[in-house]
Amino acid sequence: MQFTFYGQSCFSVNIKGKNILFDPFITPNPKAKHIDVNSIQADYILLSHGHGDHVADALTIAKNTGAKIVSNYEIISWYAEKGHDNGHPLNHGGAWNFDFGKVKYVNAVHSSVLPDGTYGGNPGGFVIMSDEGNFYFAGDTALTLDMKLIPMTCPKLDFAVLPIGDNFTMGYEDAVIAAEFVECDKIIGVHYDTFGYIGIDHDAAKAAFEAKGKELILMEIGERKEV
Ligand code: NI
Ligand code: MN
Repeated sequence: MQFTFYGQSCFSVNIKGKNILFDPFITPNPKAKHIDVNSIQADYILLSHGHGDHVADALTIAKNTGAKIVSNYEIISWYAEKGHDNGHPLNHGGAWNFDFGKVKYVNAVHSSVLPDGTYGGNPGGFVIMSDEGNFYFAGDTALTLDMKLIPMTCPKLDFAVLPIGDNFTMGYEDAVIAAEFVECDKIIGVHYDTFGYIGIDHDAAKAAFEAKGKELILMEIGERKEV
């Protein structure tokens, strides 16, 4: 599966020829100035919650590409009001089969409000299950015991995308435990270094995962890799 990192918690994967983009926050990110938001292809845009650092460019990209937005009911309703009615609403614990694979919306411990102050429902994460691999994107969350439900209810994960920047989400120490809870050894770190509050020591973070026999991958913004 091809994985492209766009900074903060934004990335895209290509599964069965479909581009699935997660949590687009590019134009307001000073570290992602070299990314042209108008060049991003998307068939689906998955939004974990309504905070600006996860949805800033969602409407622009949705309008450019005609992508279907997948998120919780409240967020999908908000985009329909904004004029993008190609959406699929989920709520926690629910899954749906799309043409690239199955998406399950899972619990996150965080908050959520849309950029204009509209209630964004409860925040979540996603488990993506496909013929080309399975992965978990935690969204913004604290470490939570609910993560233990993922290996009980979903196929074995090939990798997990976890926030590691601390302050607004779990830090890397807790993310190591999260990786244990979801029974996954390959972690792609997100939600770090974008702002002062979430700066991390890369070597210390990687060493913390390595000490538990796990790999932490930290990608450059714009970098693409097979996972
Ligand atoms: Ni957030
Ligand atoms: Mn965030």
